Amino acid sequence: MKPLQSLHKMARNLKRFWLNLRVHVDDAITFARSSGLLQEHQPGVLAGHVLKTAHRVDKGLSLPDAQPGHGLQAAQLLSRQLQGHLRHSGADWVWQSGRAALARRARHEAGVPASELGVAMRAREVQEAASGAFPELVRVRRSVRQFAPGPVCIESLKRACELAALSPSACNRSGGRVWIATEVEQRRRVLALQDGHQGFGEQAAAVAVVTVDTSAFNTVAERHQAWVDGGLFAMTLLYALQHEGLGTCCLNWCVQPSTDRRFKRSVGIPLHETVVMLIAIGALPDEFTVAHSPRRPLDEVMHGLGSHT
Ligand SMILES: Cc1cc2nc3c(=O)[nH]c(=O)nc-3n(C[C@H](O)[C@H](O)[C@H](O)COP(=O)(O)O)c2cc1C
Repeated sequence: MKPLQSLHKMARNLKRFWLNLRVHVDDAITFARSSGLLQEHQPGVLAGHVLKTAHRVDKGLSLPDAQPGHGLQAAQLLSRQLQGHLRHSGADWVWQSGRAALARRARHEAGVPASELGVAMRAREVQEAASGAFPELVRVRRSVRQFAPGPVCIESLKRACELAALSPSACNRSGGRVWIATEVEQRRRVLALQDGHQGFGEQAAAVAVVTVDTSAFNTVAERHQAWVDGGLFAMTLLYALQHEGLGTCCLNWCVQPSTDRRFKRSVGIPLHETVVMLIAIGALPDEFTVAHSPRRPLDEVMHGLGSHT
């Protein structure tokens, strides 16, 4: 390369790197302003806290060995959060969901078995619905935290991954990848740095790591594209696994960059792939319970855009 050309290339790369830095700082400011990171008393932030803690309480009741007394700290926290939420937003559906979770936990303390307090499911009914029409498949998909012993069929995993690969992706770059651990030792290593699988993750016969190959994104404007493409990919994978009659539970990958790098080195995932989430996969027990997970009413979800006049 001629000296002038290489100078030109260096200047271009410096400019691109500077832009990269600027938009990431901008992202950090936007996140600090719009999220609950620094704003603790906004109604939306309080509602998010209530829903998250209520889920912790209900999740405890859906674990294989749910014991009375479990989740005491979460319940105490939820009570305090509910008081704050009531003051700011009144007794809306979020408040009622939190109260219902507390009431279920209190009944568990009083001796009602957890299997009667969660949502009761039957494998046969779930699998029938999952092999039928799409709305049924969607309605019957739930995060499963109780698995039957035994391996999952590798052919089922392959069929599901093949369908996931049909997910749309920006400019068809098809970055979605799945790394699957089935051996006990591999599964342990994959789960070692994940913080949301306690009490059930070790029962899963397979753990998938959904990643996106970031190397195909080449402009700063695409810095979030891996999460979008990866989310779509993961959703198709979940439905496909459900269609195969398997139980799944998404496992968050909300970690610091240093943990992310340690994880990739430890399990052998290339550094240029973005880890989107992990998925616990296993066979459904004949009968099992899942956590209550109330959803927002349609009028909070769907909005018409006003006309510009
Ligand atoms: C990206 C993502 C990460 C999640 N991480 C965890 C996790 O670490 N542990 C867990 O038990 N559930 C996890 N979940 C499951 C959610 O708690 C669950 O989807 C939610 O409560 C709704 O319940 P449902 O899936 O049964 O409809 C996760 C879900 C998503 C989408």
